[in-house]
Amino acid sequence: MVGPARPDDAIDADLLRATLIEREPAAARASTSIRMVRAPGRVNLIGEHTDYNEGFVLPAAIDLEIRIALVPTEDRRVELTLLEGGERGGFDLDSIPPKSGGWIDYVAATAWSLADEGLRLRGFRGILGSNLPISSGLSSSAALELASAWALLDPPNPSAHGIDKMTLARLAQRGEVEYVGVRSGLMDQAASSLGRVRTAMLLDCRSLEHRAIGLPLARHRLVVCDSGSPRRLDRSEYNTRRAECDEAVALIAARDPSVKSLRDVDVDKLIGARFALSERIFRRAEHVVRENERVLEAVDALEAGDLEAVGRLFAQSHASLRDLFEVSSPELDALVEIATSVPGVVAARMTGAGFGGCTVNLVARDAVDRLIEAIDREYPARTGRRARVLAVEPADGAGLVA
Ligand code: GLA
Repeated sequence: MVGPARPDDAIDADLLRATLIEREPAAARASTSIRMVRAPGRVNLIGEHTDYNEGFVLPAAIDLEIRIALVPTEDRRVELTLLEGGERGGFDLDSIPPKSGGWIDYVAATAWSLADEGLRLRGFRGILGSNLPISSGLSSSAALELASAWALLDPPNPSAHGIDKMTLARLAQRGEVEYVGVRSGLMDQAASSLGRVRTAMLLDCRSLEHRAIGLPLARHRLVVCDSGSPRRLDRSEYNTRRAECDEAVALIAARDPSVKSLRDVDVDKLIGARFALSERIFRRAEHVVRENERVLEAVDALEAGDLEAVGRLFAQSHASLRDLFEVSSPELDALVEIATSVPGVVAARMTGAGFGGCTVNLVARDAVDRLIEAIDREYPARTGRRARVLAVEPADGAGLVA
């Protein structure tokens, strides 16, 4: 697919608003109370499958996002329509139904979690527009949760409820874990909630301390390659991997009760416990332990401007996800191999949960077209699929659109 590095159009805010007024009598009657909320997807630079092990992650919110134009209502009913395709979903805030298997689950999950926290919610009629590819590993679910949270809160701002954006992220995550049943970590919601333009976020998933890390974007771009082999987290082996990490912790803690999570395990401790772990469980734990080290090394390298080191760490992370944690796919491996052979591609690895989805690449600005051409030339022949290449910019986290 040779072409612009950014084929996706921006979401047309006027169209979203006009469609809301056209479809929803409540919006036509009260057009001055219409508001718009947005929440971004994210790409993770490094630190994969570490968040639910209380480790480190380095995600960036990106300028692909979900927007909802909405009008609040008095009927305690949430009704949301997709701009593209017109599919409609809804539920009553006072009797939130069990999950149905569709996208509305993520809205209902967020409503359930916020209400369970005692936060005041209000029904609405809304139209949802998105330029964020779904089921691609760019956290469309977290974006839908955070956009829903901002749409549901009454008054429409977490600070008016005495909660900060990290708490909002945790509540959204709780909805996904307990209502949807995917035992995901906090990374995606934290990135979608707290992202900052031009930066990535180093997040310690144990203390929840976080800080913005500048990226070398004057001469480079972040490029996402979508493998075209979609993934559904709830059908994947994600929960199995999580259980394997828990098993490693239980076995290591039996000898050393100070160990509460893989965050408490370093390479020496892991090697010391080798005989207690099966070969498979050892590999899973080794990935997590070394990946945590790589995140901190990558932050040092970025701060020192050492892009060669960043490239090496991305390569090690990908190899570890492929060989030790076993969550890559032939498509993701092909994308990384092709990208790595292109002069000017500084770093490439799979991003997100894996099992399909996307790769993330740090690419010299003048090499983006070369990367697109190489993928267009080689990827279909190797995989029988077509990939989408998207240059993305780190963006601010969720909120009201002025
Ligand atoms: C998914 C989950 C995150 C994280 C990543 C893997 O995106 O939602 O919490 O575990 O996978 O790093």
